[in-house]
Order: sequence, then C-alpha cells, then structure tokens
Amino acid sequence: MADWGIVAARFLQFGPALVLFGTPLFFLYGIGPGAVSQLPRSSRGLKHVVIAAGALSFGGAIWWVLAETAMIFSDPGQFTPDAIWTVLTGTGFGRAAFLRIILIAVAITAPWIIQPYRRTLIVQAAIGAAVVASFAWTGHGIKDEGAAGYIHLVGDIVHLLAAAIWVGALLALAALLFESIRHRTGAQAALRGLEAFSSIGVAVVALLLLSGIVNSWFLIGPAHITALLTSPYGLLLDVKLVLFAAMLALAAENRYRFTPQLGAALAQSGTREKSLNVLRRNIVLETTLALVVLAVVSLMGTLEPPA
Ligand code: HEM
Repeated sequence: MADWGIVAARFLQFGPALVLFGTPLFFLYGIGPGAVSQLPRSSRGLKHVVIAAGALSFGGAIWWVLAETAMIFSDPGQFTPDAIWTVLTGTGFGRAAFLRIILIAVAITAPWIIQPYRRTLIVQAAIGAAVVASFAWTGHGIKDEGAAGYIHLVGDIVHLLAAAIWVGALLALAALLFESIRHRTGAQAALRGLEAFSSIGVAVVALLLLSGIVNSWFLIGPAHITALLTSPYGLLLDVKLVLFAAMLALAAENRYRFTPQLGAALAQSGTREKSLNVLRRNIVLETTLALVVLAVVSLMGTLEPPA
C-alpha cells in the first residue's frame, strides 16, 4: 500500500521544482528578460511565480525528508532531530534532498541579490536545472549498477529536464494568455512566447518520449511487458501515456492551428479574441493534464517496479 504522505511530498516537490527551472528558462528564450519588465503590471507577477514555486518546492523537500525519516525511524520516540540529521547526512537520497533544499533557498533569494534581471533568470534556471536533476538520485533513477546504471541515470535526468521545460513554459504561456485578454498589448508577447516554444516543442517531446522509453526499459523491461496490464505500476504508466497523448494532441493543435491563426489575426489587426480564447482553454487543459501526470509519477516512484 502506498505511503500517501510520501506521495504528497513528492508531488509538492516535483511540480514547483519543474517550474523553478522551466519558467525562468522560458523567460530567457520565450519572451526575453527585457520584455518581462515591459509586460503590463499584472503580468510582472510572473516573476513572483518562480519565487512561489521555489518556496513550495522548499516546503515539499523538507516535508519529504521528514516523511522518509518517520518511515525509517517508525518506532515511538525514534523520530528525533538526530534521526532527521542521520537521514540528511547519512543516506544518498537524504544528501540529495539536503543539496536540493540549499539550492532552492539560493534560487528564492536570487532576485534580491543578483541583478540585472537577465542574470537573475540565468541563475534561477541553472539552480532549477540542478534541483530537477537531483530527483534522479531520490527515485528509481539510481536503481541499476554499472554502465546500465549510468544510462538509466542520464535517461532519468534528461526525462526530468525535458518535463520541466514543457511544464515551466505552460505556466508562463497560461499567464501571458490571461494577460492578453485583459491587455491588448499582451497578445504580441503571448504570440512571441507561443512561437518560441513551438520552435523547441518537438525536440522537448522527442527527448521526453525517448527518455521515457529508457526509464520503462529499466523499470519494466521486455521480460515483464505483461506487467503493463497486470501490475499497479504498469497500469499507472498506461494512465500516464494516455495523459501524455492528450497533452500532445492539444500541443499539436496549438502549434499547427491556433498559433498561426493568432499570428494572422494580429498581422491583419483582425479579431484575435477567438484564437486567444481557444489557446487559453487549450493551455489550461494541457497544464491540468501535466499536473495529473506529476501526481501519477509521484505515486509510481513509491511503488516497486516490475523489473
Ligand atoms: C508530459 C509528459 C511527461 C512528464 C511531465 C513526465 C514526468 C516524469 C517525472 C517528473 C518523473 C519522475 C522521475 C523520478 O522520480 O526520478 C517521470 C518518471 C518516469 N516517466 Fe515520465 N513524464 C512524461 C512522459 C513520459 C512518457 C511518454 C513515458 C514513457 C514512454 C514516461 C515514462 C516514465 C517512467 C517509466 C518513469 C519512472 C517512474 C519511477 O520513478 O518509477 N514518461 N516522468
């Protein structure tokens, strides 16, 4: 039976940490640090989204360490500061979480200690990437030994970073599209962001799929393929693949249909509301599906994989 405290702590870590990397990165390639400062007042709140994500991931990391310690030191009276320190310094996953907590603290304070804003974004994205990659050391990514172990570990890190680029961009695009409905000037920024993400989207999805297959090979593998229909872990992966396919369909519609439509409407100063509304609806749906994927993965990581 799953330990829901640990599942919830994993979920609270994953989502915000992916944003901590993916959203500042999107600011850098999607709309440009300069443009972020020129956005209408309400969108500048986007800057604070990264800090809020950091704070949530910080809380999630601490909750996860406490939940893991409570699971290991389960006898009454054993759950002490010494026990927490033993987990933080005496276990591989504890040390990875400890590093993650320190890194997140630096990322949260970056806007106050690093200027100009472009440098803040670069520091936040770099720290965010390290935080996201560190999950490979606290999940099934380190299950294998030798050369196979390195392939699995690198595959898992690539998987996590690709997932973060997608999820981080979704959050920023959703905010830009909400903004563009309130402020006409926001539509151009939204279009620029959509086109920028479209240019890297195919590569991100390809990396996610390839690294997902690597993960599946090591955690299920050809010898246990029937586990996809018979084991809780396998069934969860099926659910995840269905959600992934739905996200892909929405992303393709945005890229090949509604973003060009919005571009044409803005070029001919035609009616943009229809394109903006369907893009907003699709991006909100895609983000919701991504959150469900993260919930599924938070549970999968606590179950024994078939292989
Ligand atoms: C939107 C798409 C996806 C997102 C956001 C996503 C996200 C994630 C995350 C955050 C992890 C946790 C890694 C860890 O704990 O170390 C993970 C693990 C995994 N992913 Fe994905 N993934 C996506 C698509 C896929 C696809 C397409 C596949 C299969 C082809 C896949 C297969 C796996 C497997 C097998 C794991 C290992 C789970 C475990 O820890 O036991 N994922 N994914």
